[in-house]
Amino acid sequence: MRITILGSAAGGGFPQWNCNCRNCAGQRDGSLRAKARTQSSIFVSGSTSADGVLFNASPDILEQIRSHPALQPGRAVRDTAIAGVVLMDGQIDHATGLFMLRERGRPLPLWCTDPVEEDLSTGNPVLKVLGHYCGVDRHRIALDGAAFEVPGAADLSFRAVPLSSKAAPYSPHREAPVPGDNIGMLISDRRSGRSAFYAPGLGEITPALFDLMCGADAVLVDGTFWTDDEMIRLGLSKKTARDIGHLPQSGAGGMIEWLDKLPASTRRLLIHINNTNPILDEDSPERALLTQHRIEPCEDRMTLDL
Ligand code: MLT
Ligand code: MN
Ligand code: ZN
Repeated sequence: MRITILGSAAGGGFPQWNCNCRNCAGQRDGSLRAKARTQSSIFVSGSTSADGVLFNASPDILEQIRSHPALQPGRAVRDTAIAGVVLMDGQIDHATGLFMLRERGRPLPLWCTDPVEEDLSTGNPVLKVLGHYCGVDRHRIALDGAAFEVPGAADLSFRAVPLSSKAAPYSPHREAPVPGDNIGMLISDRRSGRSAFYAPGLGEITPALFDLMCGADAVLVDGTFWTDDEMIRLGLSKKTARDIGHLPQSGAGGMIEWLDKLPASTRRLLIHINNTNPILDEDSPERALLTQHRIEPCEDRMTLDL
């Protein structure tokens, strides 16, 4: 399978439009070696087909499609390589790009859990609004680990796992989580037998989840924050990383500790990186520490062939 990183940043992107933190200001004025990044999304296709699945529809989707010619194969007057969209949650950075796909000729094939379907029909009723344009052909993602396929995305099969993270701030379950607010996905290619685990929003790793991660050839996991109090220290928020559903990389029980315990052959990647995260600065000690632990921060336009 091929995984294309369309957007490797968290909500807001990098640099963020209104932010003058060290990273955003330094990226803008060129004083920092750091690559700009769009918001959280990947495209996955199997070994025998160019058509595949869009995971999350970010507000930057149109720019992302333009910078990836493979997503526009040009076989007909209206065409796309996006066979279907799968949502990991109903957060703004993962769902508002759906509005931008409204010109589709037929209803948009969309896979999401029941709580996400509810949030996207009430608090942020994008699915209702799309009913006035192309419409949505919604498929339910079950939380029992049953495998599903997306017609048109040859060779691929998917298994969802409920995660502890956070529903969007507009959701009635923001502070009263229900299973399915956030999911991770095991993506398998039946032809090659290879698999990847994708979880851009991940607040806690349980033993069962870690077992699942151990079986994947690559993991692409929550890279939002380096420290739990990153936003508090910068005076940008009163909430910790864990408060908003993101496991920080550093510290006891942090992402680096978990990734260190994976089998030696597992490729470890961080995705959904917040603009405040010091790993974005390619010359930072935090970035050097990641390299030491064989952990790669995702960049836009990166591809992984598994
Ligand atoms: C998150 O991942 O915590 C949210 O996407 C943040 C946001 O909406 O900006
Ligand atoms: Mn997000
Ligand atoms: Zn910033």
